[in-house]
Amino acid sequence: MKDKRIESNQKLWDSKVASHFKSEFYRMNDFINGWNSLNSIEQDLLGDVKGKKILHLQCHFGQDTLSLQRMGAKCVGVDFSLNAISQAKELNVNLALDAEFIHADVLQLSTLDQGPFDIIYTSYGTIGWLPDLKAWAKVIST
Ligand SMILES: C[S@@+](CC[C@H](N)C(=O)[O-])C[C@H]1O[C@@H](n2cnc3c(N)ncnc32)[C@H](O)[C@@H]1O
Repeated sequence: MKDKRIESNQKLWDSKVASHFKSEFYRMNDFINGWNSLNSIEQDLLGDVKGKKILHLQCHFGQDTLSLQRMGAKCVGVDFSLNAISQAKELNVNLALDAEFIHADVLQLSTLDQGPFDIIYTSYGTIGWLPDLKAWAKVIST
């Protein structure tokens, strides 16, 4: 049986995608025109990602995934919101990028065909939604 906390979080995130996509915060026009959604702190910590395989957990509609792809990485984004993943896939096609997006609960991820990865990345506002951080860490380590 599905965890009720996951189920209600999933509904919440599905409902947020359209308004986030249109919001000033996500600067979608700038993004479409090449703006990098990673802040300098993330860019500095990651360094040169050219040629790296990156798994982006809780990717929302994929701005960071696609930014990393534009920086020369080969990226896979995962999110449990179907609306977010559908939007990410559409952006990927519209921007002629080659990232992959997977619709899944990160806590249920087992080994991915696309792995192993050089970097596993997640960013702002992602871990507070998880009922079990140890399980999340285990997914990352496998
Ligand atoms: C605040 S958003 C992430 C925003 C992202 N850092 C950005 O800048 O676009 C949090 C994301 O975590 C996802 N999420 C939360 N719990 C998840 C889970 N168990 N499995 C997969 N995705 C999850 C939500 O669907 C949502 O897209």
